[in-house]
Order: sequence, then structure tokens, then C-alpha cells
Amino acid sequence: MDLLINRWALYQVLGSRILARTGFYQSSGAFGFRDQLQDVLALLHCDPARTRAHILECASRQFEEGDVLHWWHPPLGRGVRTRCSDDLLWLPYATACYVEATGDSAVLDEQVRFLSAAPLGPDEHERYELFRHGNTSAPLFEHCRRALERGLTSGPHGLPLIGDGDWNDGMNRVGSEGRGESIWLGWFVGAAANGFAGLCAERGEIDEAKNWRERARKIFTATHDEGWDGEWYRRAFDDQGKPWGSAKSDECRIDSIAQSWAVLSGGAPREGIQQALWSAESALLRDDEQITRLLWPPFDLTARDPGYIKAYPPGVRENGGQYSHAAAWLGWAFAQVGDGDTAMRVFRTINPIEHTRNPEAVRRYRLEPYVVAADIASVEPHVGRGGWNWYTGAAAWCWRFAVEAILGLRRVGQGLRIEPHVPRGWPGFEATVRIDGGVLEIVVDSSRGSGEGGIEIFVDGSRIDGTLVPLPENGVTHQVTVQMRAHEDTSSGSEA
Ligand code: GLC
Repeated sequence: MDLLINRWALYQVLGSRILARTGFYQSSGAFGFRDQLQDVLALLHCDPARTRAHILECASRQFEEGDVLHWWHPPLGRGVRTRCSDDLLWLPYATACYVEATGDSAVLDEQVRFLSAAPLGPDEHERYELFRHGNTSAPLFEHCRRALERGLTSGPHGLPLIGDGDWNDGMNRVGSEGRGESIWLGWFVGAAANGFAGLCAERGEIDEAKNWRERARKIFTATHDEGWDGEWYRRAFDDQGKPWGSAKSDECRIDSIAQSWAVLSGGAPREGIQQALWSAESALLRDDEQITRLLWPPFDLTARDPGYIKAYPPGVRENGGQYSHAAAWLGWAFAQVGDGDTAMRVFRTINPIEHTRNPEAVRRYRLEPYVVAADIASVEPHVGRGGWNWYTGAAAWCWRFAVEAILGLRRVGQGLRIEPHVPRGWPGFEATVRIDGGVLEIVVDSSRGSGEGGIEIFVDGSRIDGTLVPLPENGVTHQVTVQMRAHEDTSSGSEA
């Protein structure tokens, strides 16, 4: 974990994903709209200026109508306009994360030009072209608003339309006739709307903030009501209104991302969350195989057509393999509900060093021990074989999962939020965090409990209220001690 988090994962993010945009299996060179917007969120600590610049670059790849290029090749910008349903929403989502972490709300006023072109025709699924900027420009804030206005759609169940795919690119024919809906997207669009509402409130646009919060609330309610399958959340409804990710489905009965984002979005009720995570753990997390499956069972014999995901052999890549990007989301969800043990079990399935501990493992896994793999196969005879590597959004999410969720170190405005979710049995950890020339030397003691009974934080020996440690000024170092308490400590009253 030290090797990966202190060096290699960020090297992978910056080198392969952001600068080169290439790897052995995907020699791309393009920017993917949703892809690098997620990657740059791993740079909020070490290079927030790059995050800022990339957000503005993405805004400049948005059409006046609010939709965006799925990917484009710099510097000219030749790219593809599609009917993917989630791409555009990553703009308000990432912008809200950036502003929350850095406090830099001035970015919202940056003027950015829109692309201008004829919209896709009724029978046109995508168009590849050199798209050009028109004469209209608007502040980033307005770009985010247009993305949400366009992206918050509503289908037959009141859920957002999946279009020609959501985060899972391979599910591109679940809704290609225009009626299919995505439960994952219900969580995600709600999270994006709430994030944007926060930005509105900060600018004093109170009615606009209320409007988006209300729309987020409605979409969350519909997502829970229509998405709940009895023991977990369904994944989608196809054009015929038949569910995927349901106990009624022979293949793809349960999909990880509809469960993880129920938690990450903050949109699902408590009972739903607990049950959904239990179901995900028992169906998807395989300690014996060291794999966190994306969905299960894989698509194989079904006569239905979810899209090109079915062209992958069962257990490979999105088709039920470990998709490490989504595994990090699921692990984060466990951390967020306070289950550091399960979070760590998931982290081990991603950490390449855990897949290369001995010669036999190396022969099976076949990839570098210092690079996060996009996917790991989950069906015999290939169980445990690493798939595509280097060029994967899993690197950024793996780093964030470890640092922000397990170690619980999250930059927010002018402070560092410290809320660790470490597994039981960890004695603690040390971390040095440098922000704008100030240094926090942090020692976390979890030898007496892993925080079930609360945590106490001392800055240079003085106890602070809550878990937000103010950032020191330039050139100043503070010593931070964090005491994690066990359950018993609460009953003895020491939490107060
Ligand atoms: C690939 C794509 C990414 C997509 C993911 C899941 O990594 O680049 O955009 O979200 O697969 O299908």
C-alpha cells in the first residue's frame, strides 16, 4: 500500500493517463470526456492547477446544447459526438469536487467557448468530425448548468435514460431505442445535481440551489423506488422495460456500480444501503480468488442484447471480470459506511503487489507488480490473470480510495478532513500532508479501536472540535495526533 500510494499510482495517473494517454492495450492519445475528468480528481492534493486547467479544457468540448464530445484528439479537437448519457455530468461533478477541495470558486467565472454544430439527427447514434467553436461563450458555471439540464432526463420509470451507454461503455444497446433507463445513472446524476447545488448556494443563487436539490431528491426517490429489487439495486431497464441486474435476470443478476453509488451519491436510504452492500459482498467479492467482480454472472447465453459487453468472453473485462475502477468505488462504499475491514479486502484485490507475492501468482497474473490493472479475469481457465494495464482510470480511483476513504485524508477548502476507516488490527499509520507550503505531520493511533466509538484529534497537543484540521500557513508545520476509539470507549462516556 505504501509503495502504491506514495509513488506508483500517481505516476501511473500522470504519466499514462494524463500526459501520454496511452498504454500497451489502448494506444489512444485522445482525451475521454469522463475519463480524465475523473483522473484529475486524484491530483487535488499534488497538482490542483492541472485539475483546474483540465476542467476548463473539458468545458470547451461542450456543445451549446449541453452535450459533449465523448473523446477528442488534441490539439485540433477532432472527436466524436454521441448519445452517451453520463459524459456531460462529469463536468458539474468534477467541478464541485474541485471547488470543495480547493475553495477556488473563482474558476466558476472563467469564460469558456462552446462547440457549435448541427445536433445528431434522429437516426444518428454518433458523429466523428472536427468540431469547431462557435461565437457563444459562457462562464464555467453556466457550462455545468447546461450539462445538468441536458443530462437529467426522465424515462418510463422516472429514471434517467441510459442512451447509448453510461459509465459502462459496453452496455451500449440497453437503451439504444431511447427508452432504456439506468439505475446507476440515477445515483450519479443526483450526486452531480447536489454538488452543483452546493456551488449555487456558495454564489448566493439560493433558488437555483433549491431547484437542483429538489430535483436530486426526486431522482434519488425514483431510483430507490424503481431500482430496488428486494435484496439489492437493479442496474438498468432496457428499451422493453425489462430489468438487468435483478434476481429475475439469469445473467447480470447483480452489478456492483448500482450498489456502490447508492452509497457514494448519498441518495439511498440506510436500510437499502446495508442490504445492497451485503449482497454485493457475497456475490461479487471473492477473497479466495482475490477478485472483486463488476457484475455476476457474466453475459453468455442470453438472447437479449445489452451491447458490445457481450462480445467479451465471460469473466473478461466489463463482462463480469474485476473491473478495478468499479472495485475502488465498491471499496470506498464500504469505507464510507464504516466497514474498514471489507474496504481493505477490496483494496487487496486491486493492489497489484498482492497479485504478485510469489512465483506462482506472478505466472498467473502476468502483469507488473507496480501498475494498477484495468481488469483481472474471473472465469476459469483464466481466473486471476491480469488484463489491460497502465492506461486505466482505476489508478486514480485506487489512489483516492486508499488516501481519502481508507486513510480518510480529504482536502476540503482551507482544511484537511481526517476520518480514517482503517481495518481492525491496524495499529495506525503516519502521513505527511503538504498543502500550499504548510505541512501537517499526522500520526493516527488505531491500536485501541478503529473509530467505532468516535475519534479525537489533537493539533500541537490541543484537542480540536470535529475532524476538520485547519491548514497551516506557508512554512508552518503542525503535529497532528489522531486517537481512534473503540465501541467500549463510547459506553464509558469518553467520546464526549
Ligand atoms: C473504459 C473507458 C471508460 C469506461 C470504462 C467502463 O475504461 O475508457 O470511459 O467508463 O471502460 O466501460
